[in-house]
Amino acid sequence: MVGPVSAALERQSGETLVAADAAELATLGAELLARAIDDAVRTRGRARVALSGGTTPGPMLKELAGLALPWDRVEWFQVDERAVPPDHERSNFRGIVQALGEVGRAGTLFRMEAERGDRAAAAAAYGAQLRRSFGVARAVELDAMVLGVGDDGHTASLFPGTEAVAIEDRLVAAVDAPDGLEPRLTLTAPIIREARLALVLVRGAGKREAVRAARAGGDLDAVPARVIGACTGRVVWLLDPEAAGT
Ligand code: 6PG
Repeated sequence: MVGPVSAALERQSGETLVAADAAELATLGAELLARAIDDAVRTRGRARVALSGGTTPGPMLKELAGLALPWDRVEWFQVDERAVPPDHERSNFRGIVQALGEVGRAGTLFRMEAERGDRAAAAAAYGAQLRRSFGVARAVELDAMVLGVGDDGHTASLFPGTEAVAIEDRLVAAVDAPDGLEPRLTLTAPIIREARLALVLVRGAGKREAVRAARAGGDLDAVPARVIGACTGRVVWLLDPEAAGT
């Protein structure tokens, strides 16, 4: 029997699914998201989902888009965006639009305008949009959120050593990225923690140590992906065998 302490520990570290390969990772991820969307629409009339950029979510989103769901009831948000125009090859928005295709157009897709000169204003506008979508007096609890983990231990665009993970007074922030990468807009810890489902997708041996460090707990600014351990909803780590180290 699982006692209250071990149940709490289990919640903290989340569930782990290790997919046999990239195809299974996409299928399992699509299934989990489909269920979250379906449940949200049935119980709240609408599903609000935030998607990360990067390379891992694409195949899963394409698979998701092939399923029959009430797509016109879905509002899509971005977890983070790079300071590039929306048609740029490094634009997360562009990748999301391409992967979702028709399904994205059936619902509403809210773009982070990270290319704007005044990025702090763009962040505030996105935060205000989130509040409007949820209802100004209501908690901003995303029905599902897809996160990735970088090999440096970042998640969303909360990078190590930048204190971005400590931002608590905004839902969306304009932040800097290291190593000559473009600055970003990103969801912050308060909204990440409240998602009803955090689906963390990680592939590749290069991420194994980051996944281990993220799940071990410790200094948040050193490994911002540790914020996932503070999520209050369901957390599923969906890994390939290389990232899981199995
Ligand atoms: C971005 C991201 C970022 C991403 C991780 C993992 O804009 O780069 O949203 O947080 O999720 O870096 O990226 P991969 O999926 O490419 O490994």
